[in-house]
Amino acid sequence: AQSSKLAALGEMSAAVSHELNQPLAAMKTYLAGARLLLRRKRPEEAVSSFQRIDDLIERMGAITKQLKSYARKGGDAFAPLDMRDAVNSALSMMEPQLKRRHVEITKTMPREPVMVLGDRVRVEQVIINLFRNALDATKTVKDPQIDILLAAGETALLTIRDNGAGIEDLDSLFEPFYTTKQAGDGVGLGLAISSGIVNDLGGRLTARNATVGGAVFEVQLPILLDETEAAE
Ligand SMILES: Nc1ncnc2c1ncn2[C@@H]1O[C@H](COP(=O)(O)OP(=O)(O)OP(=O)(O)O)[C@@H](O)[C@H]1O
Ligand SMILES: [Mg+2]
Repeated sequence: AQSSKLAALGEMSAAVSHELNQPLAAMKTYLAGARLLLRRKRPEEAVSSFQRIDDLIERMGAITKQLKSYARKGGDAFAPLDMRDAVNSALSMMEPQLKRRHVEITKTMPREPVMVLGDRVRVEQVIINLFRNALDATKTVKDPQIDILLAAGETALLTIRDNGAGIEDLDSLFEPFYTTKQAGDGVGLGLAISSGIVNDLGGRLTARNATVGGAVFEVQLPILLDETEAAE
């Protein structure tokens, strides 16, 4: 039992360090930006970069806390969350990477909130992992495009599709350490972590190839009905 606990902790540690890479990379970019702005005597704008860095530090704290609460078997703090906010904030965290690429991104979201019960940081981790994969998949295509679609029906449904080469092996996709990427570009944990998170939230993460080509990933989460609306 002791050794399996350690193995589980090892997996969890690998996952946490995997998830810290995104905010770390973003911080480095914002820090370089702030330095440049200060040198150009634009302190006001530098301050907003510092705010971004502060938010990222907060986020990294929340991610390492997952490891602690896992080790102590603490309960997760779920709260009502508008999926539109999660999508927007995940995208803003990807901004530094997006600036370096020419990718057309379309975002379609309902006018009304799409409420789910979840842990904000973790929901954003899922979106970031899916989005990073889509970015990777479109690296070599001529007119890269990524579509993000949020819809509210019986469940909250978030679709991320790209026009890359599509998924090679649909059966191995969610296995930890399955990757088709070069060492250094990927370790094969993003989807394993993401499907774990979605399952914890009572949802489902699925993948398929579109008939027109490219990969389609769908996150389905139980929808939280508006109490005032339900009472009517
Ligand atoms: N959008 C996509 N299009 C095509 N293949 C994909 C897509 N997303 C994932 N895959 C395939 O699934 C594999 C596993 O993805 P996963 O996110 O778990 O790991 P990774 O991206 O390789 O590495 P990591 O996420 O740990 O940096 C990828 O290596 C790739 O082969
Ligand atoms: Mg990945």
